[in-house]
Amino acid sequence: MSTPSPSQPSLRVLIFSASLRADSLNTRLARLAARVAAQQGATVDLASMRDFDVPAYDGDLETGQGIPAGAQELRRRLLDSDAFVIASPEYNAAMPGLLKNLIDWTSRFRPQPFDGRHALLLSASPSMVGGNRGLWSLRVPLEHLGARVYPDMFSLAMAHQAFGDDQLADATLQARFDKNLQAFLSLAEAAKHYPCIKRAWVEFLGETPGTPADRVDAA
Ligand SMILES: Cc1cc2nc3c(=O)[nH]c(=O)nc-3n(C[C@H](O)[C@H](O)[C@H](O)COP(=O)(O)O)c2cc1C
Repeated sequence: MSTPSPSQPSLRVLIFSASLRADSLNTRLARLAARVAAQQGATVDLASMRDFDVPAYDGDLETGQGIPAGAQELRRRLLDSDAFVIASPEYNAAMPGLLKNLIDWTSRFRPQPFDGRHALLLSASPSMVGGNRGLWSLRVPLEHLGARVYPDMFSLAMAHQAFGDDQLADATLQARFDKNLQAFLSLAEAAKHYPCIKRAWVEFLGETPGTPADRVDAA
């Protein structure tokens, strides 16, 4: 990433962990990502999943009371950012239901706030594969919603033993983490200054437009 100058403000990155647990390994990884991103010149908004608390998605609730405060908060912070990073646990080889539910609520805003935003996915797990299968499931709704999900995802295996005092215990792994983040931030920064063609986001391609399937962002 280049050094920010007054005419070129630093990249703003929203980072949060999708775990509610106080001793969460993913929250530790999110904090590490926040430190590294700040060292690399980004302006970091480190959020907690508790900031985005929402009830189970219910279309009647949406019609009666609107989109809940937790999803409004995520939308606000996404719009204030150029890119976002999620550190997510893997539950039963997929993303936590809590996270999917939050994505579902937040996807109800128009314009749809994930569209065109750059995303980096991280995971931490005590297992040998570090929760990587969960990230593949997380890519699906995010890409569907038009987020530019970075190809390299970082999954921290045996995470319960992987942390040192303020970084990863294995220096080679820490260097790999730093590089992964740097490459992502560089791409997001390049996209901020040299935007490529914005594509229209249409949820149900091929369907006849009409009220029940009307999920198209206004140009
Ligand atoms: C319901 C449930 C399902 C889980 N399934 C998986 C799994 O499929 N793969 C895995 O690596 N870990 C799995 N775990 C273990 C979590 O990776 C572990 O609890 C991890 O510490 C959770 O993330 P956190 O520390 O950020 O809260 C599961 C845990 C729970 C509670």
